[in-house]
Amino acid sequence: MNNYLNKMHETVNYIQKKVKEIPKLAIILGSGLGSLADDIENKVVLAYKDIPNFPISTVAGHKGELIFGTLNNVPIIAMNGRFHYYEGYDLKETTYPIRIFKLLGVKTLILTNAAGGINTSFKKGDLMIINDQLSFFAESVLRGPNMDEFGDRFIDMSTTYDKEYIKILKEIMNKHIGYFREGVYAYMKGPTYETPAEIRALRTLGADAVGMSTVPEAVVAHHSNIKCAGITCITNMAAGVTNEILSHEEVKETALKAEENFKKVVKEFIQKIAKEL
Ligand code: HPA
Repeated sequence: MNNYLNKMHETVNYIQKKVKEIPKLAIILGSGLGSLADDIENKVVLAYKDIPNFPISTVAGHKGELIFGTLNNVPIIAMNGRFHYYEGYDLKETTYPIRIFKLLGVKTLILTNAAGGINTSFKKGDLMIINDQLSFFAESVLRGPNMDEFGDRFIDMSTTYDKEYIKILKEIMNKHIGYFREGVYAYMKGPTYETPAEIRALRTLGADAVGMSTVPEAVVAHHSNIKCAGITCITNMAAGVTNEILSHEEVKETALKAEENFKKVVKEFIQKIAKEL
């Protein structure tokens, strides 16, 4: 554990040498939001491969950069490319950047992702505000000795996604899209998409969308008292919901179509919450 902490401090030292003022707001750019990186100004870009002890992203089309800069004058850190368990990282590696954010003084984390729609009232391209999560089928990222420097051993999970942020996101989506979707994001380890039977089971359990990221990151953030907001792009209906065969092509195509709305919502959200950071 000490070794893990030492590694983190090495990472933090490197970043602090490269970036003078560290923003209090971080965002993980999921599928469909990568181009937000282009809108960031006054950038300092650190490639994951150059940051000591940082994992390196392996998914085609996912970049591996930590970007420091401003978005409409609000200082932010953007993670362009995240680490997924299905790539072979263990959960500690997957969530390494969140620990680093905490040590750098980040107060709020915006988690974005692509997911399959389980709720049949959703349609492809919808944006869903995450109001809760399910992760029955994966071990907890907090398993093992508790890192007391970050948070308590046993933590309440009823406020993982900040209620005030959810309210703000609803208002923004109503304004820009005319309606909002909200619901429960179910985490599956991947890399296969789910079977239709798994999707029926997840629906029974209360899930509205399913994806292969976000939950470990949200747990680590919440453990260390970082406020979270989560937004999902429904890139496809989940397995068996329609007769369509799922493909990564479809996921990418829908994500691209939803990009403008996604960016609008996220930018306004950042603007709105910036005051209290
Ligand atoms: N399942 C899991 N992850 C996903 C999906 C899905 O249907 N779509 C995009 N990411």
